[in-house]
Amino acid sequence: MVTMTNPISLEVDLAPGAKRSLILPNPVMVASGTFGYGIEYTKVFDIQRLGGIVTKTTTLAPRRGNPPVRIAETPAGMLNSIGLQNIGITALVRDLAPVYATWKTPVVASIMGFTVGEYAEVASRLEGIEGFAGVELNLSCPNTERGGVEFGQDSEAAAEAVARVSRATTLPIIAKLTPNIADPRIVARAVVEAGADALCVGNTLQAMAMDLERRRPVIGATFAGLSGPALKPVALRQVYVVAGAVDVPVIGCGGIATARDALEFILAGASAVQIGTATFTNPLAPIEAIDGIEAYCREHEICRIGELVGAGRAPADRKPRPETVPLK
Ligand SMILES: Cc1cc2nc3c(=O)[nH]c(=O)nc-3n(C[C@H](O)[C@H](O)[C@H](O)COP(=O)(O)O)c2cc1C
Repeated sequence: MVTMTNPISLEVDLAPGAKRSLILPNPVMVASGTFGYGIEYTKVFDIQRLGGIVTKTTTLAPRRGNPPVRIAETPAGMLNSIGLQNIGITALVRDLAPVYATWKTPVVASIMGFTVGEYAEVASRLEGIEGFAGVELNLSCPNTERGGVEFGQDSEAAAEAVARVSRATTLPIIAKLTPNIADPRIVARAVVEAGADALCVGNTLQAMAMDLERRRPVIGATFAGLSGPALKPVALRQVYVVAGAVDVPVIGCGGIATARDALEFILAGASAVQIGTATFTNPLAPIEAIDGIEAYCREHEICRIGELVGAGRAPADRKPRPETVPLK
């Protein structure tokens, strides 16, 4: 029987059995690109309470990003087309890693490359650097060696990027999948087989908006990614489907704003969640989600958050059923 005084363990291991573990103090992370490099928020709240911080996606060279307009509101979310503006891996390692090394909260470096070689090169720059607890591969990047098809939409290229990164670093590897694909299980299985320790499911949905007065797309780069509450039911289904197809931890991401949202993803099979767009309107959303998850556990006499992972799955879906979908 759990009483008000029993400690509740919210701890999550995102890389059980990996060369190096990735233990989060609680399952609530902040999503790449929506929390900058984390420094800015140290003045807003105690970021050391977060389960984990994922940096802005960082590439080999710094990038200026897309021309304006880069963001637009939608009825239940937002569109963004930042174009991967970032400081580049050299500055990340030189200027920010020493700060991260003093933080209690695990910091995961989000990385990207336009070729598999570039993914590996960026990952190798993180090797042996104090301050990083893991690496997240943003697979929503056009592969210049395969006609610009996104890595996340090409199971072979995604697997090759993960395999090359796993040879370049001993850090735990999270592969961040794209939702812009018919069946996410195929890429999910391919990247796990290639060495991903955990999966993040997923990223923004491809979208756009039209300006009636100017009679042209609202967004400078024409297309954008949809994030926020509109994404939640789609992302929830994808987490449910992927969690049933792999046996590594899954991180849910897409439209999560509250503890209730986070718990839905956990019941669907996510071991942790990432909160993105919600922090733009409420920077304290991740902290409120942590407190709310703990309150739920207390109220429902849950001692360990792991007890809830997948607890909402239909009985037939509780075990991975790899035979249902072939790898290719
Ligand atoms: C302004 C903005 C910038 C983003 N930049 C990145 C990025 O650099 N790398 C990445 O993997 N995802 C990026 N994302 C996607 C988020 O990390 C997240 O996967 C997505 O927004 C869905 O979660 P949400 O609905 O909670 O925001 C960005 C999202 C937004 C809104």
